[in-house]
Amino acid sequence: MKNMLIAGNWKMNTNVFESQKLVEYILGFVKTNATLKSKVLVCPPFTSVYAIGQMIENTKLLLGAQNCYYEEKGAFTGEISIPMLEYCGVSHIIIGHSERRSYFKEEDEIINKKLLAILEYNLTPILCIGETLDERNQGKTFDILINQLDKDLAGLTGDTIERVVIAYEPVWAIGTGISATREQVQKAHDFLRHFLVGKFGEKANRVYLLYGGSLSEKNADEILSIENVNGGLIGGASLKGDSFCSIIQTAEKYII
Ligand code: PGA
Repeated sequence: MKNMLIAGNWKMNTNVFESQKLVEYILGFVKTNATLKSKVLVCPPFTSVYAIGQMIENTKLLLGAQNCYYEEKGAFTGEISIPMLEYCGVSHIIIGHSERRSYFKEEDEIINKKLLAILEYNLTPILCIGETLDERNQGKTFDILINQLDKDLAGLTGDTIERVVIAYEPVWAIGTGISATREQVQKAHDFLRHFLVGKFGEKANRVYLLYGGSLSEKNADEILSIENVNGGLIGGASLKGDSFCSIIQTAEKYII
């Protein structure tokens, strides 16, 4: 069995108008291809979440957010809670993205709290993990991945693991135009599957393992065809409707 999730991470791009235009395009594609088996997700900036939620209601397109706070409500200036997002139609929330880890100093302890809170609200966390170039060059890639998974997934049981989506995003491949090679992705994803099954049991075979980092319509075939790759978390290429939809089309070929 091989499932696919194609997720667009728009980062800090698009105002409400631009978001709506982009979603119109993607929705057009999703509706025309009524037999699509891949899950398709868009993660616009917070300011567009409600408007997009209205547009995608009762369609197959899924809505995600790029961050959240783990408390339900209260004096947390500038933060957005999970129930607030859920009310807008959000089903998935990205956490632990390397940009949040490095620019906003988000640590594993906070990421773990967010992950557990998202699961408590019955939404789906998309946990991003990945090594820097230095760490890869020092041969530490797998140690870094294990360390992030151990800390970020703390408190999870074999029953809940299948509700988590994991995105392997080598930091050096994000936004650089230099994707990891097929061999690098395959090794990392095989390792992740093996590690997760060892730690959580059989249900971890159903965890979606996404690849992220300069995934585009040009290298989608090479990467999405890898056995333990269940889709992609796409930044730059998700901002162009035709590129994003072309990646969805490629994913369809590899669903079993
Ligand atoms: P990219 O971003 O596709 O622009 O490399 C991926 C991500 O950061 O999720």
